[in-house]
Amino acid sequence: MRIDILTLFPEMFSGLNASIIKRAVEKQFAAIKIHDFRLFSNDKNKRVDDYSYGGGAGMIISVQPIIDCLRSIKNFQQARKILTTPVGKVYNQNKAQTLSKEKHLIIVCGHYEGIDARIYQYIDETISIGDYILTGGEIAASVIVDSVVRLIPGVLGNEDSNLIESFDDMLLEFPQYTRPQKFEGLEVPEILISGDHEKVRQYRRFKSLERTYHNRYDLLLKANLTPEDYRFLEKIKRGEDF
Ligand code: ADE
Repeated sequence: MRIDILTLFPEMFSGLNASIIKRAVEKQFAAIKIHDFRLFSNDKNKRVDDYSYGGGAGMIISVQPIIDCLRSIKNFQQARKILTTPVGKVYNQNKAQTLSKEKHLIIVCGHYEGIDARIYQYIDETISIGDYILTGGEIAASVIVDSVVRLIPGVLGNEDSNLIESFDDMLLEFPQYTRPQKFEGLEVPEILISGDHEKVRQYRRFKSLERTYHNRYDLLLKANLTPEDYRFLEKIKRGEDF
């Protein structure tokens, strides 16, 4: 997958040069290129923003440098073009999966008060990563790249990568433990070292339900629940443990 990112702050993407995403790039599952669209400004001082028509305090980014930068990218017409903005559609795992099947993504990062609205004529969709305001779209773009690249087949080494997470009809993951068995008096739950696989399965299911019940009730409402799950949920509602 090719990914081009258009930004005024290229230095904000150093975070993509680490861990799994770095390895994905090295193994050529993804080629990520960062473009500083200020370099495309026609203004003699390389300014990219100006006052808002109709008035208002904030500065608006002009479309010209962005569009000229976009046109410098090979085959930009065929790419899926995204704008990160707090007024976009809210991102989720299903969107990440859809995007992971694309051959070429171009992500435009807004900043300051926003971009001249004519930008919408040149992009395919807008994405917000959540209901909060960031200083710019760069962190949102990093979130998209990270979540999409890990879904490209082959990027995650282990077999779990085949289990595509849908999240929407899923429970939250159960808590897990590793050695030591006892840390500052805190012990690993006994069931997990019992060797009783059926008990371990039930325990983990219970803990998944419990966590989802407390942290993401919205997911619980969409989940496919079994009669056993409903029994567990009755206990969870009463505040009882497994
Ligand atoms: N830019 C500023 N806030 C944002 C958000 N929540 N999502 C995407 N881009 C943004």
